[in-house]
This record gives sequence, structure tokens and C-alpha cells, in this order.
Amino acid sequence: MDVLHTKAEMRAWSRARRKGGLRIGFVPTMGFLHDGHLSLIDRARAGADRVVVSIFVNPTQFAPGEDLDRYPRDLQGDLRKCRARNVDAVFLPTPAEMYPPDAATTVHVPTLARPLCGRDRPTHFAGVCTIVTKLFNVVQPDVAAFGEKDFQQLAIVRRMTRDLDLPIEIVGGPIVREPDGLAMSSRNANLTPDQRREAVALSKGLAAARAIWDAGGRDPRALEAAARAVVEAAAGAEIDYVEARHPDDLTAIEGKVDRAVLALAVRFGGTRLIDNAVFEA
Ligand code: PAJ
Repeated sequence: MDVLHTKAEMRAWSRARRKGGLRIGFVPTMGFLHDGHLSLIDRARAGADRVVVSIFVNPTQFAPGEDLDRYPRDLQGDLRKCRARNVDAVFLPTPAEMYPPDAATTVHVPTLARPLCGRDRPTHFAGVCTIVTKLFNVVQPDVAAFGEKDFQQLAIVRRMTRDLDLPIEIVGGPIVREPDGLAMSSRNANLTPDQRREAVALSKGLAAARAIWDAGGRDPRALEAAARAVVEAAAGAEIDYVEARHPDDLTAIEGKVDRAVLALAVRFGGTRLIDNAVFEA
């Protein structure tokens, strides 16, 4: 497995393989890898001959006061997991390598970035779009894999890739969960044992909404109320949002619907968790 630190090295690596006719798959991450990340490596490989994983805690997607400083890191463990999963190259740039001091250009998808996480984190998705565009330009993949756990991020990356004619196929991967249902997340490591126990309320809330849907309930407000009641009962849970929206364009929905994504963001102390479920008739 090759470990590359500079954009020039990464570009040369990809150029050499593409010249040989090989397709490159790409999984961008912020590290502290878990089985959710590793499942995306398999997705990327399904559409490619070589797989690149980037590990970069991107400062521009964190607002001042967010958890950039306590974002969990374990580089040696991450490299071990990548090697075990037959990753071909890991790209490990520094912030200085990715961002010149006078970098001024950013990428925005305003309509999709405004609701849900965008309300509490108004600058977050511009940071994501900008770094993903830059990583695409450096890694030059044919296919890139993103998790449905970050449903809004996946929708935004798909739209951005289409709108900007980036020649990259975006594939989504299903949410990978802990045995009790909690969606895997690097941030779970920052939960106290009590918070970790209570955090199962997110997936339990989605299951309560699923029960309503399966019984024929089609009112988005009823789905939200069912999930909200479960989350509110969890000790220490502070809800940022519990919202059902259109799964394609994240627009508001009401009345009787035949499709919805129910998305939620909940804080336990300084740790913000997200989860979602898609409902289809
Ligand atoms: P990160 O949170 O490290 O996630 C990297 C990828 O793993 C994302 O596509 C995310 O949706 C996916 N992922 C995380 N948890 C998952 C789970 N439980 N099941 C399935 N997939 C999961 O998302 C980012 O990093 C950053 O915003 C990034 C795209 C790298 C840009 O900086």
C-alpha cells in the first residue's frame, strides 16, 4: 500500500495508473476509520481496479467552536485497517498542503445546503464541497463512494458533481450500524459511557417512525413526532432537528406522501450525532 503526502505524488500515482487503463475508486474520509468507512472501500472497489482512501480532517468544514480540536484521530490504526482491506493508496495531506494561505475559492450548493444540518452549520457544506472538489481534482477518480449516513452530504455531492460536469460516478453505501442500532461514526468515540447508552435513541426513534410507516401512516409530521418522542425521552439528548423531507431534493413535504427521508441531529454534550431513514411505499 502506498502512502502519499503531497498533491504532486498523488496526482502522479493516479496518472500512471489511468495511463495503464486502470479505473480508480476513491473514498474520502476524515479518518478514525470504522466498518462504515471500510464498507465504502468495498463499494469503490466494485467499480474500479485500484482504490484510494484519503484521510484528512478538513478544517474548513468545522465552524469556530465546533469539535475540530477534539475530532478523534488514530493514523496507525487507520493505515492498518486500509492495508487489511487491500487499499492501494492512502492520501494523507496536511492542511497546509491542501490550502494555500490565500485560498479564496469555494464551492456551494446553496439550495440543498440550507435545510437540516445547514441551519445549525451554515458554513459546513461549503467546506465539504470545496474539499471534495479539490480531492477529486488531485485523485482523479473514476468512481467515488459516500455513505448514506450523511444523507444530505451525499445529495449535495451528487448535485455538485452533476452541475459541474465532474467526470466521476458517485456511489452511495448503506448505513453501517453497531449491534444496538447506533449508526457508526468516528464521533461516537467522544461519547461518555452514559451518553453512548442513550445514543441508541436515534435509531430507536427512526424505528418508531418506521412502525408508523409500515402501518400505513403517510403523514410526515406523524413520522417526525414518533421519532421525536423517543429521542426526547433519552437523558441528556438535545435535538437540533427531527425532519421528514423529500429524499431526492430535500424539499419540505406535507400531507400524504409516498416517499420521505426522516433525518435527525441530536447533541449529547459537545458531541453531535446524525442518523436518517428512507421510507418508500
Ligand atoms: P467522514 O465522516 O470520515 O466519513 C467518510 C465517509 O464515510 C462519508 O461518505 C460518510 O457518509 C461515510 N460514513 C460514515 N459513517 C458511516 C456509516 N455508519 N455507514 C456508512 N457510511 C458511513 O464525511 C466526511 O468524512 C467528510 O465530510 C468528507 C466527505 C471526507 C469531506 O471532508
